[in-house]
Amino acid sequence: MDVIYAAIAFRAFQLPVRDFFEEQLEALRVRSLDRHLREICSAQGAEIEIGDRRLVNFSSNDYLGLANDPRLREAAIAAISEFGVGGGASRLISGTQSPHVRLERALAKWKGTEAALCFTSGYAAALGTIPAVVTKDDVILLDKLCHASLIDGAKLSGAILRVFPHNHLGKLESHLQWSQREHAGKRILIVTESVFSMDGDRAPLRELIELKKRFGALLLLDEAHAVGVIGPNGRGLAATENLNEDVDVQMGTLSKALGTSGGYICGSRNLIDWLINRARSFIYSTAPPPAIAAAALAAVDFLASPEGEERQLVLQERIKLMRDLLLSLDVGRLGATNRRPTLNAQRSTSNENSGSAIFPWIVGDEQAALDLALALQTEGFLVPAIRYPTVAKGAARLRITVTAAHEEYQIRALCEAIKRLERGAS
Ligand SMILES: Cc1ncc(COP(=O)(O)O)c(C=O)c1O
Repeated sequence: MDVIYAAIAFRAFQLPVRDFFEEQLEALRVRSLDRHLREICSAQGAEIEIGDRRLVNFSSNDYLGLANDPRLREAAIAAISEFGVGGGASRLISGTQSPHVRLERALAKWKGTEAALCFTSGYAAALGTIPAVVTKDDVILLDKLCHASLIDGAKLSGAILRVFPHNHLGKLESHLQWSQREHAGKRILIVTESVFSMDGDRAPLRELIELKKRFGALLLLDEAHAVGVIGPNGRGLAATENLNEDVDVQMGTLSKALGTSGGYICGSRNLIDWLINRARSFIYSTAPPPAIAAAALAAVDFLASPEGEERQLVLQERIKLMRDLLLSLDVGRLGATNRRPTLNAQRSTSNENSGSAIFPWIVGDEQAALDLALALQTEGFLVPAIRYPTVAKGAARLRITVTAAHEEYQIRALCEAIKRLERGAS
């Protein structure tokens, strides 16, 4: 009898749950906000295979084309031979193997900081670091366009959170005044990115540092999309502007230009020791695979080498070509929320010379963005449609990323296709 009741209760519990997901998914579909995985049947590169089609790939963050580089592959294979595939335990238990230590030393040297600490992802780095740096009585001031990992880290910390409009120094200053007045004696953490992931523009770093110094705040700078792309030896924005020492917490990821996987924090020895003791995503998670650390070390070594510098120059040439071609299309007249696509070929003041590899083609309407992505795919290009909640509602876009692995003719071909589609839309 008990078994029958249990079966009925289980069924009664099961049905609404299943309906709930169906309903919610339908609600997403109706608003063109549903997402699906696509299977890539090849390695990362300028071209990738989806099913039986080969597409030119303008969707990846593998800015230097290192994800399938022989140097990194060999480093990983050699490390697998020596260390195996698994991390075994948390870094604090027995997971810290020589490749982790070597990578962290190399990262600190390359970024010009006292120490570095690696996490399993950039997301985990943000989630572990922000709550370790501030507590619930402190204040976080966060740029409105910050990546989800920074937003989630800020929320998890429980600190008082104020969001300032994107790159708006005046609003940030008034938030700083408010923080000093209302939360005297508490820690203030400014959180921003050096190159913004969905817009490709830069933070005004020098001015941010002036403000943070004036108000005695701390600054966390996420260099995820700057590292490998800008700065001497691809060291990012802080290094470009010679401001390394003024950024308290330098965050980055190994999974974009460095071609592998994982996140890192660079900073003072004390900061890193504190994170080892307090960053929960570091403490309570198994160490990243040693082979990935070895491959990431090969990437850092490559970036610091003359060949790495050359690769970065190629990337900058490709970026310039893309920017010039997109600007010559002259389709940036309408506002970002218009239905007609607006190409933001890094026009705004702060990204005039951003040198970033990210080019948003702002469409506005979610379905229109999906339609354009499909049209480009039909023409042989993979360019992802980015929609809410990754960007604001009604600010859907195609996010074009250029890498050093692209040939000039591939960039020209994409721009030709955009021109055809743009004409079709007007
Ligand atoms: C700005 C920014 N920060 C952090 C991350 C997270 O890095 P990861 O992919 O290594 O988790 C991303 C990834 O998209 C990002 O764009």
